[in-house]
Amino acid sequence: FERLRGLLLSRIRDVPDYPKPGVLFKDITPLLADPEAFTALTDALAGLARERGATKVVGLEARGFILAAPAAVRAGVGFIPVRKAGKLPGATLSQAYELEYGSAEIEIHAEDLDPEDRVLVIDDVLATGGTAEASLRLIRRSGAQVAGVAVLMELGFLPGRTRLEAALEGAPLDVVITV
Ligand code: PRP
Ligand code: MG
Repeated sequence: FERLRGLLLSRIRDVPDYPKPGVLFKDITPLLADPEAFTALTDALAGLARERGATKVVGLEARGFILAAPAAVRAGVGFIPVRKAGKLPGATLSQAYELEYGSAEIEIHAEDLDPEDRVLVIDDVLATGGTAEASLRLIRRSGAQVAGVAVLMELGFLPGRTRLEAALEGAPLDVVITV
C-alpha cells in the first residue's frame, strides 16, 4: 500500500472546525475528483474484497457508497447498500446504535444476502466504530458471514478499532491510511 498511501494522503483535504469548532474534517472530495487516485483506491479495495473471499460488498451510506460500489464492480461481486433508517422500501432489518450525542439507526434489505455469502463492509472513515459495528450486526442477523471491514481512513486517536473487535469475531479490519 505504501505508494498508494502517499498518493491518497495528498488528495485528502483537512478542513479545520468543520462541521463544528475543534473538529478537523477529512475531506475526500479531492481524491474522488482525481481519476488516478480514485482508480488506485478502487483497485486496492477490490483487491481486498478478492483476498478476503468476499461474495458481496456492503457500503455504508453515504460516503461509503462512493467507495464501495466501484470496488464491488471491479471485484465482480454484488453491492448492497446499508442505508439510514426509512430509506429502503422492502423488508428491512434495522439496527440502532449509540453516537457521541444521541443515537442513529441503519437498515439493510436482508433478502439480498444468503447464508453462503461472505460480506466485506467498506466505508470511508472508522471513527468511534459505531456505524461499522452496527453494520456487522445487520450482516450477522441476516444469516450471512462477515468477510471483514475495510476503510480508507482510521482515526487512530479514537477507540473505533477496539469497539469493532468483538463484532468482527476474528474477521480482519483493513485500513488503508491511519490518521
Ligand atoms: C461518517 C463516516 C463514517 C462514520 C464513522 O458518516 O462517513 O460512516 O461517520 O463514524 P463512527 O465510526 O463514529 O460511526 P456520517 O454518517 O457522519 O456521514 P455520511 O452520510 O456523509 O457518510
Ligand atoms: Mg458515513
